[in-house]
Amino acid sequence: MRAMTTERLATDIYKEFKAKPEAQRIATEFALIELAKLVSEIKPKNVLEIGAGIGTITALLLQHPNRPSQITVTEANPVCLLELEKNLKGLALEGYKLIKSADDLKPHDVFDLVIFDGILDEDKQYRVFKLGSWCFVEGSRTKTIIGLKKKLESFGLTINMQTKRPGGQKLKWKSARTILGVPLPAFKFRPVKGCSSGQVTSLVKST
Ligand SMILES: C[S@@+](CC[C@H](N)C(=O)[O-])C[C@H]1O[C@@H](n2cnc3c(N)ncnc32)[C@H](O)[C@@H]1O
Repeated sequence: MRAMTTERLATDIYKEFKAKPEAQRIATEFALIELAKLVSEIKPKNVLEIGAGIGTITALLLQHPNRPSQITVTEANPVCLLELEKNLKGLALEGYKLIKSADDLKPHDVFDLVIFDGILDEDKQYRVFKLGSWCFVEGSRTKTIIGLKKKLESFGLTINMQTKRPGGQKLKWKSARTILGVPLPAFKFRPVKGCSSGQVTSLVKST
């Protein structure tokens, strides 16, 4: 395990994975730092990562000072599966499990932390929460958050997701067009990519 701050660990992993093949869709550096901080705070034992891709978030979990003892990740894309295997080589994989579909989950599998950076199964992916579970969402994934809230409500549970964005801004001005990589002065607002997290609580407030 690397002896360094979790923020530095996240930054180093981001830089390392950004340079790897098939890195177009990896988690942002901002999301990795926020996730590293959340894991330090809540110390989950049992984590489900939906959409492992090439393994950026998985590598962070495996090397985190508060490494969860059970890490289940989902991935089915053949290109990603090849890269994932290469990218996790050399890391301690005790308690790590790769599954391809929601059917590989046991009916009563529930997790302390569920990370969404992909989709497993629109319905089954929401059954893995219990009272007190945490959820971390990379990017906006509005549909995922709405689906999760709806499903939890049918179990008498709820979740208040808090969104964080780099610089705290929701939108920023960006050049709409570039020519040969040079931004032109035709600006428009673009959403700023962030991440969200929250904890499952009871829908009925105790008195
Ligand atoms: C946002 S990506 C997940 C990224 C991953 N968490 C990471 O940070 O390395 C979501 C999904 O996109 C698909 N995907 C990611 N990279 C891909 C690639 N280079 N080619 C094809 N599919 C890809 C995978 O199925 C993955 O689960």
